[in-house]
Amino acid sequence: MPTKLEKDAVTGKETTGHEWDGVRELNNPLPKWWLYVFAATVVWALGFMVFYPSVPYGPGYFHGLLGYSTRHDAMAGWRRMEATHAAAMQQIATLPFDDIRKDPQLMAVALTAGRATFANNCQPCHGPNGEGRRGYPALGDDVWLWGGKLTDILQTVTHGIRSTDPDTRNSQMPDFAGTGTLKPVEIQQVANYVMTLYGAPVAGADPASGRAIFMQNCAVCHGEEGQGNHEVGAPPLASHTHLYGADRAAVVAQITHAHNGMMPNWGARLDPATLKSVALYVHSLGGGE
Ligand code: HEC
Ligand code: HEC
Repeated sequence: MPTKLEKDAVTGKETTGHEWDGVRELNNPLPKWWLYVFAATVVWALGFMVFYPSVPYGPGYFHGLLGYSTRHDAMAGWRRMEATHAAAMQQIATLPFDDIRKDPQLMAVALTAGRATFANNCQPCHGPNGEGRRGYPALGDDVWLWGGKLTDILQTVTHGIRSTDPDTRNSQMPDFAGTGTLKPVEIQQVANYVMTLYGAPVAGADPASGRAIFMQNCAVCHGEEGQGNHEVGAPPLASHTHLYGADRAAVVAQITHAHNGMMPNWGARLDPATLKSVALYVHSLGGGE
């Protein structure tokens, strides 16, 4: 039987009977509810260790009676996703564009794959959003060199332009100075005429004589009204979009020695489903015909 404990005179509380140099310890036990909660957490922790993965040993760990594993769950989810993705890409490879576009789920897969492919392969030349820059056409506008239908885009991307592919899109704007076809003054005249097509102010050489030169040397590719021609990849000249620039120097430079830009044949590097996906993505940028 514990003896009755002494009371502290100041607080009126019981002391534990411990005393150090006249300092006595008050008896303040932990609250009961706290002790129960503490005990409950210990029991919970032990239960957790038995049922769930817990104690590590050697190269492994105790897996727990429930066999639970976030890694297995995640991997299973990943494999399910990969299988769905592979099935969708398989369909994209075989179905015609019209059928793909009717299927929102396939379109979602194609546009996601297309966007990633574009970022990895096309962005350095055509810009992050296909906005283009000098010499590299914008892909989101409705001005097309070789055509903006899905099949046109797929053909261009697969075989390239002036590439090493035997089926490449090919045409050469002549080197009018190099071949001596046009004299410098004629180049100035026809350049002035071209600039009138898009309403740029011209000075100097006579655009009227430029028109005659244009009809004789340029209309065959660029069209009599300068409307362009997808058959030969000739850009419309009567347009406010310019591949090489709207200023006089740029126009004269192109006529003097045509650039004849080159675009790689992606068929050599990307599989058919990826090619179609990137074509759908380019088409979705806004300029698709
Ligand atoms: C090395 C630079 C380069 C890369 C990379 C490149 N392109 Fe091009 N692309 C060009 C050039 C240059 C042209 C225009 C060629 C010309 O002057 O006719 C072009 C033209 C095109 C056209 C034709 C546009 C039209 O108006 O008809 C399409 C479509 C196109 N590229 C899509 C792509 C896609 C999709 C990719 C990525 C898979 C890609 N390009 C990667 C340089 C590139
Ligand atoms: C055999 C076809 C062909 C003929 C002929 C031709 N061009 Fe071109 N032209 C093209 C092609 C293809 C391009 C774009 C490809 C490139 O050079 O990268 C182009 C581009 C241009 C551009 C640049 C347009 C822009 O958007 O920046 C101008 C300007 C131009 N041509 C003017 C002329 C003039 C002027 C003549 C006649 C003196 C002429 N072309 C004759 C095929 C032709």
